[in-house]
Amino acid sequence: MVSLRARALAALLLATAALAAAQSAGNSTQAPGTIPVAFEGSALLISYYSGVSEALLERGVIVPKETPLSGLSGGAFTGTFIHLGHNGTSMLEFWKSIIDDCTKTEGGCAGHLNGRMESKLEEMLPVDAAEQIHGVMHIALSQLDGSKRTLNDSASWIIGEFFDKSDVKSALTATDYIPCFTGDTVYTTFRNNPVIDGGYANGFKELCPGGDIENCIKVASWYVGDKANQTCDPVRCAASAATGCRDTERLETRLALYKNDYRYVDQMPLVDVYQRCPVSYYQGLDPNPMPDFVPHNQTVVDIYPGKYGPLPPFNGTETLACEWQSWAMSLPAGMELEAMDVIYQQGYDDAIAWCNENGYNI
Ligand SMILES: *[C@@H]1O[C@H](CO)[C@@H](O)[C@H](O)[C@H]1NC(C)=O
Ligand SMILES: *[C@@H]1O[C@H](CO)[C@@H](O)[C@H](O)[C@H]1NC(C)=O
Ligand SMILES: *[C@@H]1O[C@H](CO)[C@@H](O)[C@H](O)[C@H]1NC(C)=O
Ligand SMILES: *[C@@H]1O[C@H](CO)[C@@H](O)[C@H](O)[C@H]1NC(C)=O
Ligand SMILES: *[C@@H]1O[C@H](CO)[C@@H](O)[C@H](O)[C@H]1NC(C)=O
Ligand SMILES: *[C@@H]1O[C@H](CO)[C@@H](O)[C@H](O)[C@H]1NC(C)=O
Repeated sequence: MVSLRARALAALLLATAALAAAQSAGNSTQAPGTIPVAFEGSALLISYYSGVSEALLERGVIVPKETPLSGLSGGAFTGTFIHLGHNGTSMLEFWKSIIDDCTKTEGGCAGHLNGRMESKLEEMLPVDAAEQIHGVMHIALSQLDGSKRTLNDSASWIIGEFFDKSDVKSALTATDYIPCFTGDTVYTTFRNNPVIDGGYANGFKELCPGGDIENCIKVASWYVGDKANQTCDPVRCAASAATGCRDTERLETRLALYKNDYRYVDQMPLVDVYQRCPVSYYQGLDPNPMPDFVPHNQTVVDIYPGKYGPLPPFNGTETLACEWQSWAMSLPAGMELEAMDVIYQQGYDDAIAWCNENGYNI
């Protein structure tokens, strides 16, 4: 039997070791595994987060069921899956199976993503998923004002308590809902409220617990490095070059939720725009233009592609920042799964580089 004294000593040693490790990881005095990690959206760059997760799990930065995780869209799936016991490679396989499926569907992945996801999520999520992630996972949604016919000014809605497995599923298929892309309607519903992808109303300030962006490891999948603007190539990135490689961004967020007191979701005025997909058929009609995303770079991001070196070569050529960004909505045709592997590896490498820089060594 271990004496109380020995136990107390062991506990003290562990605490001291933890503190030393945490202090070398910045100025935090918190033990490793307790610093919150926030993941922004990714769209089809989702495997970047799988690679990041693998590294952060290996180095003990994230401890499943303990580390406060938060995310929107791809980041919400990532955090949820981590708490449910998945590692980077099992997540990568999950995403590859979905992309493989939908690229083989006529019309590709656009409009079909959640449809493909439904049955796979049903299989993947355990019956007690809600209890398992309760309190340690926060999922960000953009709540719409049902009394209007526009999607602008959506409100930040952070979900930290989940009723049951279907509630978790519903939160996940809401936080990833890019109008007319993830599914074939303009918005979706969560708990009887109209909602869209979390990226329209949330940035890191909303994702990090208590808005404390200092004590929060911030992870983004889009290229926000110094070279992002300089490498806009009119030939290889014609679509983004046409708009000067400049995205309009929503800088003000809204924290107060709308009171959508409609007895039935089909009674709200917003329902008029529900079926206006694809957007190109409804130019000039509400809810176009679509709202702007909250930018990833509203604060200094800790882990992102391009921070620790150039982007990886792909298919024999260097990858331009504008190409990486465009993969979010459309992976390289015919080489989708290869690209997902390269994106995964980049996430893994970037997160390991961050760990090394911040004292999270093996
Ligand atoms: C630690 O705190 C000092 C002084 O407040 C600051 O200059 C430094 O950048 C901080 N380091 C990290 C890694 O946050
Ligand atoms: C990752 O998870 C999968 C599925 O649970 C498992 O087969 C694999 O061994 C795990 N990999 C590591 C490195 O732990
Ligand atoms: C919604 O936002 C877009 C882009 O920021 C803007 O062009 C449009 O006029 C706004 N629509 C409304 C109804 O406010
Ligand atoms: C990107 O570079 C172009 C050309 O140098 C410049 O006109 C534009 O303002 C830059 N965009 C951003 C977002 O900095
Ligand atoms: C974020 O990026 C935009 C260009 O996309 C730039 O105009 C803005 O200054 C950046 N914000 C920060 C905080 O770096
Ligand atoms: C890959 O490279 C080959 C040979 O240069 C080219 O024909 C093909 O279009 C490229 N595919 C992608 C998706 O970049």
